[in-house]
Amino acid sequence: MGTILVPPIKSQGIKTKLVNWINETTNSEPYSAWVEPFCGTGVVAFNVAKDQATLADSNPHLIRFYRAIAEGEITAALAREFLELEGKKLLQLGESHYYAIRDRFNETGAPLDFLFLNRAGFNGMIRFNKKGKFNIPFCRKPQRFAPAYVTKIVNQIDSVARLLKLKNFSFVHQDFLKTIQQAAPTDMIYCDPPYIDRHADYFNGWDESKEIALFDALSQRPGKFILSTWHHNDYRSNDYIKRVWNRFEILTSEHQYFVGANESNRNPIVEALVTNIDVSSLARKYTKRDLAPVQYALCEPAASFG
Ligand SMILES: C[S@@+](CC[C@H](N)C(=O)[O-])C[C@H]1O[C@@H](n2cnc3c(N)ncnc32)[C@H](O)[C@@H]1O
Repeated sequence: MGTILVPPIKSQGIKTKLVNWINETTNSEPYSAWVEPFCGTGVVAFNVAKDQATLADSNPHLIRFYRAIAEGEITAALAREFLELEGKKLLQLGESHYYAIRDRFNETGAPLDFLFLNRAGFNGMIRFNKKGKFNIPFCRKPQRFAPAYVTKIVNQIDSVARLLKLKNFSFVHQDFLKTIQQAAPTDMIYCDPPYIDRHADYFNGWDESKEIALFDALSQRPGKFILSTWHHNDYRSNDYIKRVWNRFEILTSEHQYFVGANESNRNPIVEALVTNIDVSSLARKYTKRDLAPVQYALCEPAASFG
C-alpha cells in the first residue's frame, strides 16, 4: 500500500495505524461498496475503499464537514483563508479566542469552526457533553496555526477533495443499525464502534445492548464484515470478545497506542479485528485468537500514537 492519506480531522479513536492491516484483510475479497456505519475521521475508507462507499456516523459534525468538502463548500483555499485569519486572532488574543470559536460552533455548528476546534483543542480529541456541546479545552498553544501547520491541514483537505472527486462516496448522518440494514449483501462493512467498556460521551454512548444489537445485525446479514475492537491491555481483557464475538475469526495485532488524556486510559491496547472473512492466510502474520483464552504479558513498550 502506498502513502496513507491522513484526514484533516483527528480523533482519539482514529485508526490510521490499522489501515494497512484492514487493507490486507479485505483486499482479496470481492465486494460492491465499502460501508462504514461508524466512519469517524474517515481514514479507513479514504485509504481502503475501492470506488464506492457509504460513510455514516451519528456525529452530525463529521458528516457535515465531509459533505462540505464533497460539495465544494469547503475548499483548500477557503480553509487556508479561514485558518490564517482565525489563527492570527488566536495568536493575538490567546485562549479566549479558542473559547469564543467554541461558543460560536456550539451555536451554529459551522464546519470550519469544527476544523479549527479539532486542530486547536487538547490532543485533537472530539468530545461532547450531555447537551451535545463540544467541550474539549484549548491545547494551550496560541501559535497553533503557524504557516507550516496551516499548510499541512490545507493539503489534507485538498487530498480528501481530490479523492471525493474521483470516487463515489456518500456521507450519511444516521444510526449504525440503519446503515447496516441498508447495506447490500455484496457490500463490505467495516465497523469501528466506540470501544465497549472504555469511553463514553454524547455521540459515543456505547453499552452492552448496543454491542449485542451490532452483533445481531452483523450475524444476521449474509455479507462480509470486519469489526474493530480492543482485545486486552496490561490490566484487563475485553470480555465481549469471548462472550459475544467468539463465533467469528479474531485476529489481534500488537499495535499499541495511547488513547485519551485520562491516566487510566493511557495503557497500551492490543487491537482486535473480528471478521467472517476467511483469514487463514493472514493468521501467520497476525495472531489468530479464535476461542483461545486471552494471553497476557504480550505488551511491548508502547509507542506514542503520533
Ligand atoms: C472509534 S470512532 C470511529 C473512528 C474511525 N474508524 C476513525 O478511524 O476515525 C467511533 C465513531 O462511532 C460514532 N458513533 C457512536 N455511536 C454511534 C451510533 N449509534 N451510530 C453511528 N455512529 C456512532 C462516533 O461518533 C464515532 O465517530
